[in-house]
Amino acid sequence: MYKILKAEQLTANIFLMDVEAPRVARHCEPGQFVIVKMDEKGERIPLTICDYDREAGTITIVFQPVGASTTKMKELKAGDYFRDFTGPLGNASELVEEDIEELKKKKILFVGGGVGAAPVYPQVKWLHEHGVDADVIIGSKTKDMLILEKEMEAVSGNYYPCTDDGSYGHAGMVTTMVEELVEKGNKYDVCIAIGPMIMMKFVCLLTKKLGIPTVVSMNPIMVDGTGMCGACRLHVGDEIKFACVDGPEFDGHLVNFDEAMKRQQMYKTQEGRAMLKLQE
Ligand code: FES
Repeated sequence: MYKILKAEQLTANIFLMDVEAPRVARHCEPGQFVIVKMDEKGERIPLTICDYDREAGTITIVFQPVGASTTKMKELKAGDYFRDFTGPLGNASELVEEDIEELKKKKILFVGGGVGAAPVYPQVKWLHEHGVDADVIIGSKTKDMLILEKEMEAVSGNYYPCTDDGSYGHAGMVTTMVEELVEKGNKYDVCIAIGPMIMMKFVCLLTKKLGIPTVVSMNPIMVDGTGMCGACRLHVGDEIKFACVDGPEFDGHLVNFDEAMKRQQMYKTQEGRAMLKLQE
């Protein structure tokens, strides 16, 4: 059993939890995920690790209720328990594997959208702790929907919030902010984009044009996180990959986003049926 030490509502529809899981906290790296199960019969829910404290033995997860299971999960409070909390799973971010002196020579740009700010955060934090300050663009529909602002500001070189409605920060999409920074003379060696599929698709179309190698994290399409359900199957160039086993990070310029979005839609319909059942 894994105790929830903190349960906090970050925005109208985004929730954060600190969970006691010392073994996961000891071994995890930025970019990896966990699978949680609320009870014996509960569904397996893959969630990216947003933060970890090796000394305290805790893992921070951030989630947005999108289906029946995560809707039930948001009702859990501090003091409640998860039946299972398996991890760390998936491959760590490629950045963690690189030579730190080489990384210091690079100009790195992160682009996060909505709840995608959560998996961006541990990577930016890790880089900061190793002497590399990356630029970070985080987009959301409105100011109220932005998460982890204080945390992100503390570890990024430059932090650029964007809102679709212009209520805060840069007014407009994250892609227009990328264009603006490049026009101002910023030369990025790599871009890491994590967020809704449609955002990642358009960031990749732009960075391809601008000649900036781009890594995307395909965790939004995961369903069971085990390599068995097939939901996260996608084409990366000519190859077929599974996001949960081979990823979650891939070369964004090779990912077939349209195919992945179609598949995601199919699974959403199944989740929709489960939601209706929950409301009965
Ligand atoms: Fe089910 Fe990857 S999430 S196979």
